[in-house]
Amino acid sequence: MPSFRAPRGTRDLLPPERRRFLALERLAADLAARYGYEPIETPLFEQTAVFERGVGATSDVVEKELFRLAPRTEETEAWALRPEATAGIVRAYVQHGLQTWPQPVKLTLSGPMFRYDRPQAGRYRQFWQWDVEAIGDPGPAIDAEIVELGLRFFREAGLPEVEVLLNSIGDPTCRPAYVERLRAYFARHAAELPELERHRLETNPLRLLDSKEPVMAPLVAAAPKVADALCEACAAHFAAVRTHLEALGVPYRIAPTLVRGLDYYTRTAFEYYLPGREGQQQALGGGGRYDGLVELLGGRPTPGIGFAIGLDRTVLALAELGRGEVTAAGPLAVVVGVEPEATAGRLALATELRAAGLPASADLGRRRLARQLEGAARAGAHFAVIVGADESSEAVVVLRDLEAGTQRTVDRGELVAELRRAARTHRHGPAAAVEPIR
Ligand code: HAM
Repeated sequence: MPSFRAPRGTRDLLPPERRRFLALERLAADLAARYGYEPIETPLFEQTAVFERGVGATSDVVEKELFRLAPRTEETEAWALRPEATAGIVRAYVQHGLQTWPQPVKLTLSGPMFRYDRPQAGRYRQFWQWDVEAIGDPGPAIDAEIVELGLRFFREAGLPEVEVLLNSIGDPTCRPAYVERLRAYFARHAAELPELERHRLETNPLRLLDSKEPVMAPLVAAAPKVADALCEACAAHFAAVRTHLEALGVPYRIAPTLVRGLDYYTRTAFEYYLPGREGQQQALGGGGRYDGLVELLGGRPTPGIGFAIGLDRTVLALAELGRGEVTAAGPLAVVVGVEPEATAGRLALATELRAAGLPASADLGRRRLARQLEGAARAGAHFAVIVGADESSEAVVVLRDLEAGTQRTVDRGELVAELRRAARTHRHGPAAAVEPIR
């Protein structure tokens, strides 16, 4: 037999880990609702051109990491798995004419993204993002709202120490001149550049600033800074974003070489890091303004801003710090019985309890009552409902409180009400696990 494995760079999320993701997804959905961001879904794959145009043909994400789907003979269109959500969401905004909705249109999406990256800890070929976009507002106040929302996610997820790194990368008015200065600077150092970086110098000099090559660090540190090259309008916007963040009491650090890895950004750019982890290129999340993207994908000129948070890296950070474990609590009640073979009766009663909205299960193995009770305790059930204990009456069951070690006889007609009362004090399911830090 072949031994099958999950593809390289992908992972199975078994229940203990899936519960952690689920808790973060619930927090994300709760925050999105609190801040007025509406859920959207887009396909897991799009026309390759959506990413080539949107994210940028010379960005690493498209040039090296795009999961291109092998074309079928009858297809004339090229498809690729989505490496991120923004391009697809903006494609949907244009396709469905959302510019006629009240602006900004505030959207959110959680789901898997795909990048053909070299797998390592915190870097996968399939990973999960929580993405938030506000399309149709030029800022600067919405920029601060978005940055603060991302930070609040980390606070409430149990990572209050996460920091915001902030920069402005200009716009088509001022960036071309800056990119030329950057090209000239790195051209003077061409002999010191690794092969890949020399290629980038030709195609996309800005990308040199987020090079992962250690030899590039001192060159990048001494390179001209984009913040010094901003036009008046971009400089004013950046100053106003900072004023708004300060008004909100959001701490941030200016990161002069932060340029982000995707080509659609203009002006505001930011990333979230655990303190001291910036050097490892392992941001927990990042985002920025993309005032040219809607037009690039065929819409009217429309500003936009958003971020994506990496749920895998957030789960990893929480686990490393020994936080955020989500325990599976058992069912409220397990229906067990004196007669091992009477599975139909146990299943029927559990079904009745579930229909009444109570988390219940039935012991469906044909084993002795003592074994069934052991199983119920192992499953973490608060109660065992024992059927068939009273030979003279089918109208009663024994309700055993497994936590308190007490039991009493209850009319079947009263069982739902009894359990409902108990359920109010019983904690069950992973939903209970995220304790907000406010
Ligand atoms: P990004 O910086 O490419 O931005 O990705 C956002 C986050 O996704 C990263 O900070 C990281 O946590 C996670 N991530 C990225 N690649 C991987 C990977 N291979 N394995 C695990 N996690 C990963 C974007 O995707 C933009 N669409 C964000 C945005 C939204 N900008 C504006 N709106």
